[in-house]
Amino acid sequence: MSDLVDLDVVGKRVFLRCDLNVPLKDGVIKDDGRIKASLPTIQLLLAKGARIVIAAHLGRPKGEAKPELSLAPVAQRLSELLGQPVQFNAHVVGDVVSDAAASLLPGEILLLENIRFSAAETSKDEAERQVLAKELAALADVYVGDGFGAVHRKHASVYDLPKLLPHAAGLLVSAEVEVLKKLTLNPTRPYGVVLGGAKVSDKLGVIENLLNKVDVLAIGGGMVFTFLAAQGKEIGTSLVEAQMIDVVKEIIASAQSKGVTLVLPSDIMVAPAFAAESAPTLVDVDAIPADQMGLDIGPVSAAAFAHEIEKCATVFWNGPMGVFEFANFAAGTKTVATALTKVSGISVVGGGDSAAAVRALGFADSDFGYISTGGGASLEYLEGKELPGLQALGI
Ligand code: 3PG
Repeated sequence: MSDLVDLDVVGKRVFLRCDLNVPLKDGVIKDDGRIKASLPTIQLLLAKGARIVIAAHLGRPKGEAKPELSLAPVAQRLSELLGQPVQFNAHVVGDVVSDAAASLLPGEILLLENIRFSAAETSKDEAERQVLAKELAALADVYVGDGFGAVHRKHASVYDLPKLLPHAAGLLVSAEVEVLKKLTLNPTRPYGVVLGGAKVSDKLGVIENLLNKVDVLAIGGGMVFTFLAAQGKEIGTSLVEAQMIDVVKEIIASAQSKGVTLVLPSDIMVAPAFAAESAPTLVDVDAIPADQMGLDIGPVSAAAFAHEIEKCATVFWNGPMGVFEFANFAAGTKTVATALTKVSGISVVGGGDSAAAVRALGFADSDFGYISTGGGASLEYLEGKELPGLQALGI
């Protein structure tokens, strides 16, 4: 891999893969963190007089051109943030795209339409991805990979394309990997990880791997109810993955035998329904009513989580503790976020969703040691998996 600083991009056409997968509601961007995180590389390339073709995805359109997943609003926001025009091309490939890329002048930017509108981008068939990768390669002289949030995907613009052009990692990808190395190679102890989110099955690999590495593992969010069910507790109508209960029992036993402090909630905020206005009641973890569902960890649990977090010198956090989008069930996530801001060593908020959560709750990026733009990507990195997008860049 060349370093971006060394890659010859002067006057060249650069294909830049970014992760601009931002939360959108009715065409309005709810959190532009990923666009902002992409700016340093774009600005460096502009300063070197590159002609930039940017590709990115939005959501999971599954090969169909879905107007609500168009990158048009992103092009506009990127243009505002850069203070210069960003040409937007409502196509992924074809003559219109080739002509637009060919006529770019140094310092000009072209953003292609959602790359996942092409089914070949995410295809499992390598030959199909190759066809798209070759078409994209023809648009540029060099490739810069800066879409950290997508590096765990074996997709045409992430994995196949960089192999066809001289390439380098962008500044964001380099910075993310630098931070993740600090968490995986020799973390300063105590090392704590806080995991939330809905499903144990999504995080099983990372949990199993982390049990060999961390001193403290705190679990909140929807997946905690599978842990509570594994402990034989009544969980009412809370989210549960029944088929994971036995695996979770093994996780609990393994944490114990490895001397990992497994922190689970002792009180829960429950409600009769999954709704913002559903009336919250605080109950002990052993007294969840059969007709209620847990929507947040309770204040005693949140304080216990915070206490463990603040003792750690290295902390990684992924996934909200409750349904933070509903004001009545945001307190657990807020308390955990506040604890992370007090960590004197390194604190990392991992993931687009977690990052959006802390911003929505009023925290500033600078309150944390590092906010990763990739949830799935950072978890897979911590899990010890080889990530296709990094492998293709030679990282
Ligand atoms: C993300 O939001 O985590 C990244 O943009 C990757 O998106 P994906 O999970 O749809 O591949």
